[in-house]
Amino acid sequence: MSRAALLRREGPTHDGRRYLLRPAGDGDAEALIALQDGVAAEGGLIAAAPGMRSALEESVSLGVLLAGGGLSIVVEVEGVLAGHLEVRRGSETHTQHRGELAIIVGNEHRGQGLGRVLMNTAIEWARAVGLETLSLGVFATNTRAIRLYREVGFVSGGHGPTRIRTHDGDHDLLLMNLTL
Ligand SMILES: CC(C)(COP(=O)(O)OP(=O)(O)OC[C@H]1O[C@@H](n2cnc3c(N)ncnc32)[C@H](O)[C@@H]1OP(=O)(O)O)[C@@H](O)C(=O)NCCC(=O)NCCS
Repeated sequence: MSRAALLRREGPTHDGRRYLLRPAGDGDAEALIALQDGVAAEGGLIAAAPGMRSALEESVSLGVLLAGGGLSIVVEVEGVLAGHLEVRRGSETHTQHRGELAIIVGNEHRGQGLGRVLMNTAIEWARAVGLETLSLGVFATNTRAIRLYREVGFVSGGHGPTRIRTHDGDHDLLLMNLTL
């Protein structure tokens, strides 16, 4: 499978609707901000506060991420942006073999298999581009995400050196790694 084909997938959600997974583009910035703000507003899930970033900043961030050899993919369900995953590649000679992964699926689209298809796509992409390790940080209380990460092969790499402080309080960070 070519790299471009690897990043375009269609299939059924668990409740029988169709999903389309594809690379993120500039046109997704507004919907991505709405998705991030919605998940941030739930509290206790991601290290972000609602309204933290504008659509313009999101576009710029996408450009920087892609220029650095990273990955940004989205999944839509019936035309609605339902989830997003990005991998930020290390920028230094000694970190270029590593990628830092972040994923969100909107509240109303969870439990439909989208998180798993986003993770599996990112892992295949990371292998195809020659990354050696994927890593992520997850709030230690986020059992749903931790379960998914374990199921696709991530193992715990210990707790972060500091607690993360967000708009809704302090959180212990669990570090996880996947050797590719
Ligand atoms: C974590 C997250 C990405 C999972 O996405 P999802 O689309 O709901 O996941 P899937 O439907 O593909 O389910 C994958 C696995 O997650 C786990 N999972 C799903 N729903 C769950 C639930 N209600 N309780 C516990 N585990 C659950 C299961 O292991 C599931 O495997 P299964 O399909 O074999 O049962 C999503 O819940 C999310 O974005 N949450 C909010 C933001 C967040 O926490 N991001 C991660 C920050 S580090």
